[in-house]
Amino acid sequence: MKLTLRIAEPLKTRTACLVLGAFADRWHDPLLIELDRQLDGRLKEARRSGEFTGRANESLLLQPATLPARRILLVGLGQRSGAGLEQLRQAAGTAIGQLRGKRLAELSCALHLLDLPGTTPAARIEAVTEGLLLAGYRFDRYRTGDNRPKGAGPRSVTLLLARGANRPELEKALATAQVLARAVTLARDLVNEPGNIKSPAYLAEQAVAAAAEGGFLCTVLGRDELAREGCGALLGVAQGSVREPRLIVLEYQGGKTGVAPIALVGKGVVFDAGGISLKPAEKMDEMKMDMAGGAATIATCLAAALLKLPVNLVGVIPAVENLPSGSAIRPGDILTSLSGQTIEILNTDAEGRLILADALTYVRRFQPRLVVDIATLTGACIIALGHHASAVLGNDPALVKALRQAGEQTGERLWELPLWADYDQQINSDVADVKNTGGRPAGTITAAAFLQRFTKGLHWAHLDIAGTAWIDQARPCHPKGASGVGVRLLTGFLREQAHGKR
Ligand code: BES
Ligand code: MN
Ligand code: ZN
Repeated sequence: MKLTLRIAEPLKTRTACLVLGAFADRWHDPLLIELDRQLDGRLKEARRSGEFTGRANESLLLQPATLPARRILLVGLGQRSGAGLEQLRQAAGTAIGQLRGKRLAELSCALHLLDLPGTTPAARIEAVTEGLLLAGYRFDRYRTGDNRPKGAGPRSVTLLLARGANRPELEKALATAQVLARAVTLARDLVNEPGNIKSPAYLAEQAVAAAAEGGFLCTVLGRDELAREGCGALLGVAQGSVREPRLIVLEYQGGKTGVAPIALVGKGVVFDAGGISLKPAEKMDEMKMDMAGGAATIATCLAAALLKLPVNLVGVIPAVENLPSGSAIRPGDILTSLSGQTIEILNTDAEGRLILADALTYVRRFQPRLVVDIATLTGACIIALGHHASAVLGNDPALVKALRQAGEQTGERLWELPLWADYDQQINSDVADVKNTGGRPAGTITAAAFLQRFTKGLHWAHLDIAGTAWIDQARPCHPKGASGVGVRLLTGFLREQAHGKR
């Protein structure tokens, strides 16, 4: 999709479709008043009849005879007081969804011109652009011939600007959003890719490609190197699959040399059948998404590099496949992790924390100033928060707060769960240093408590994206399947860090 900025008055713009926003409780917007006047009260009528009242993501398509625009698409943003950048993003996504079947080559958008309290013109351009681009995403590389999806989105979109707009600043915001959309698309593609294609080696190749695209470093450790390092927990999970594991290490140097990096660690289970503690068949197909944290880590490094953020960044992705087989680990086995701590395996389906334990230990050699891990770690997280927020837990309140703020800004919301010492007792083992499950109560917390045993002395936070990485129902800014969650969140977090600590 080609995007251009142009200074022009919306109601005087010749276009196949003009996209406008409306709040449910603010109809005295000058643009809407003028539009209503030119349409002989059509908007008032729509509002009175309930046809279009401005509720969030509601839309109304008009074909006025009297305007230069051949169509007008009104999109609702709900109550003005409750609306923010996320509402704008979704409105842009809704517009793309509504117009998809229409085969429009081009459209003009004025959504970002709305007077949205607490937002800047640049932030609004960024949000609208993200919404437009993310809503157009499809995973269709395996649909052939007549099965190829029809009804493509518009090839070009013009974002209309008011006279006197700060053009360079808005061009920059547009470019930033394009980078973010590129990175989210990469993450979605990786997560949607089926397990038969997506081996740990495949994930590593994709990371190498992303590193080439962004101009940063990617090193990949194979099984023998991992054995030499002593990554017993990671190798234990990997031993049930004929596909060998990888440890993917990304390094982006955007800051001064010698400045301690920020480290991201992403779970990369390319398929999680549960191992010997086999999962039920129903929805097991979705477990190809169990590397969504790894995908978010790769894509965030790409975004940071393309945006040339002045930060030093390390990304570590332990990539394995968790299958049952004659060579798989058993419940009752004891593994020795890279940290030296021994782990009693009670359930081979609690594999994510095992590979993360070694990755979190590995990352210490970079002496990071903080570490954030991101993982589709627990089904319990879906029970706790559903599909509308990821869980955050950690040992550094300031870090958790910064992540939560990035969540509000990007619409990828986080909710903190407590990591009180009491929970830690649930993972004490009788025969080893720690066991890999704490039973059913507070499953998300005890998983984090497990990780905490491997992050002592680090400033660390953990994001559980089990409920948000894969979405069963289409939303304004993505079709069902991979959401790409974490990429905009973490990039937003990095932008803030770069801003504050320069
Ligand atoms: N990958 C799963 C968690 C998951 C479940 C992610 C559903 C997304 C959707 C993880 O490896 C797992 O199996 N966790 C177990 C842990 C349990 C055995 C302690 C779980 O949550 O059931
Ligand atoms: Mn599992
Ligand atoms: Zn898993």
